Amino acid sequence: MPPASRRWRRVLRLFDDLAERYGYELIMTPVFEATELFSRAVGESTDVVQKQMYTWDDKAGRSMTLRPEATAPVVRAYLNAGGRGVAKYAYSGPMFRYEQPQAGRRRQFWQIGVEYVGEDSPTADVEVIELGYHFYVAAGISDISVQLNSIGDAESRAAYREILVEYLEARRDRLSEDSQRRLSTNPLRVLDSKADVAEVADAPSPVDHLSAASAAHFEGVTDGLTQRGIPFVAAPRLVRGLDYYTRTVFEYTAASYGAAQDSLGGGGRYDGLAQQLGGSEVPGVGFSLGIDRVVLALGNAAEPAALDVFVVAANKEDHPNAQSLLALLRANEMRADGLARVASVKAQLKAADRSGAAQVVTVDDTYEDGTVTVRSIADRKEDVVEIDKVVAWLSK
Ligand code: HAM
Repeated sequence: MPPASRRWRRVLRLFDDLAERYGYELIMTPVFEATELFSRAVGESTDVVQKQMYTWDDKAGRSMTLRPEATAPVVRAYLNAGGRGVAKYAYSGPMFRYEQPQAGRRRQFWQIGVEYVGEDSPTADVEVIELGYHFYVAAGISDISVQLNSIGDAESRAAYREILVEYLEARRDRLSEDSQRRLSTNPLRVLDSKADVAEVADAPSPVDHLSAASAAHFEGVTDGLTQRGIPFVAAPRLVRGLDYYTRTVFEYTAASYGAAQDSLGGGGRYDGLAQQLGGSEVPGVGFSLGIDRVVLALGNAAEPAALDVFVVAANKEDHPNAQSLLALLRANEMRADGLARVASVKAQLKAADRSGAAQVVTVDDTYEDGTVTVRSIADRKEDVVEIDKVVAWLSK
């Protein structure tokens, strides 16, 4: 609802522009998909699939799920469309997870994201991380920080898994029930367990057990980020809560967003996902950022006004001319408004004030001679201006 939605509009528009500037095309996937897509892609042993999906049978008895995330749907759509070559997608929309609701954690929440599909160069990872970083800074979250790790490829993972399991087995009794179970199904998930943060604090990190190819890729990412001037922090325990990741994983955090255990956004590389979904070998990397959390992190900072100018009719006879002026201003890409009904100047100025518009134009009988009175509220400047110069005056 306005006025809170002003902030939403600003940041969503910001993302739309930024993604377009980086060459990401809009993709829109359905709000629900076959349940199997998420259980295969996100992983049977993850919290998302085990506890958080809204799942039901449709009239034909097929199991459907409200999308808990968009990466799997995007890769599915890419494969459906032929599944070849490089594609850069941007998306924005609601996702659904059955979680315990609290500030910044909702059952319906809004993600924006990009997926760079079909490219395995570390330069793609760098571009994606940079784009997310610039989004936060432009949105007004200047203390944004990139937590970066690599969990390696399948080859690295097989070797690392043994080392990790040995470490965790020695502490099995002290682990939560969930983690004990995951120790045999998916031990990497244990590193992600909120209940076992202390127990895994000194666990071996995947980044110290990378294959030569994954180590070279990771170096490419860190070198690229350094060259681009994107600050990042090594996060050796970061593994992310979804199973499709390979190599690069990252999260965005900010001190201004208090909940330390919750990220503002996250992403990574998923070179095995397309194959897992029955396609050919197609690499990919992307991120998703939670807009509910971005809005919370921005706190009470003032948003720019939703209007540039409010048009006031001095008398009831001036109302039609005020409407013509509004049309002229809007045609010139100014955000302009006025009252639709005839009202006293006092009532109109009150509405102008409520609108937050920084400037007011008053239309009176001089309109027929080609002039209006313009007033800038901020610097208390008032001028009588010719109508064909009014846009230029207001834009100054
Ligand atoms: P994720 O870490 O599950 O990753 O979610 C990304 C972001 O969505 C989180 O950092 C958070 O800001 C927001 N989010 C998640 N759950 C909630 C919730 N219940 N309420 C509010 N916000 C929430 C993904 O979803 C992956 N698809 C990211 C990705 C893209 N990886 C590769 N490409």
